Amino acid sequence: MHLTWTNGPDNLAEKAAEVVANLLERKPDAAIALPTGTTPLGLYRCLVAQHQAGRLTCASARFFNLDEFAGKSQHDPRSYGGFLWSNLFVPLGVRSEQVRLLQGDAPDPVAECRSFERAIAAAGELDLAILGLGLNGHVAFNEPGSDWTAPTRPVVLAEETRSAQSTLYPDPTEVPQQGLTMGIPTIMAARAILLLVSGTGKDAAFAAILRNRPDPAWPATAILDHPNLTVLADATLRANN
Ligand code: GLP
Repeated sequence: MHLTWTNGPDNLAEKAAEVVANLLERKPDAAIALPTGTTPLGLYRCLVAQHQAGRLTCASARFFNLDEFAGKSQHDPRSYGGFLWSNLFVPLGVRSEQVRLLQGDAPDPVAECRSFERAIAAAGELDLAILGLGLNGHVAFNEPGSDWTAPTRPVVLAEETRSAQSTLYPDPTEVPQQGLTMGIPTIMAARAILLLVSGTGKDAAFAAILRNRPDPAWPATAILDHPNLTVLADATLRANN
């Protein structure tokens, strides 16, 4: 694990954007998996700013998401797909052919997950998986207790995860009970992983990462064995760890 402490969320966003920009410069058709949530918003703003300044081209890049709410279409603003379209894809001018998102509203979710994995395999596997860290240590929607060998699949969401969705769902009772998540093996098959850690309430989950050994109680520690793992962590977490 290569760990870099960043000086606040803006610095974290700039450093993460550098990783993405360098990848796209080296490999314009890179396949990239993207997270949702509060943490990557700064990264997405940086990428959009670079694009608007003519410094970032992503017309050939391929994009995937990490997870989605069951029953939600990407046209629903409260879906993770909708979040990615409005915060990143639309401002970057990304075309729908470049994007393969998990379809939360697919009539057969298991078949949808298989088809999603086939699309990633057809892209030659991910060049970069960008991840956030859940309060309970989840990564994508791989919750504590989940099978680390399981493929992309429908899952039941932990209550803690459901109640942490206030940006999209001011009323927590409206958060879907289930989701679709990329599996750990697909994340681990990525040529590089970038884990972004910022926000409050993550001290325990981040402490598990810092112990630097896989621990089934904290799914994000599943990625610690990856040979090309970069962790960008907001230095405010340092004081508590
Ligand atoms: C959500 C998502 C994850 C995300 C995480 C952290 O539940 N399923 O993909 O990385 O929680 O979110 P945030 O960045 O808002 O703390």
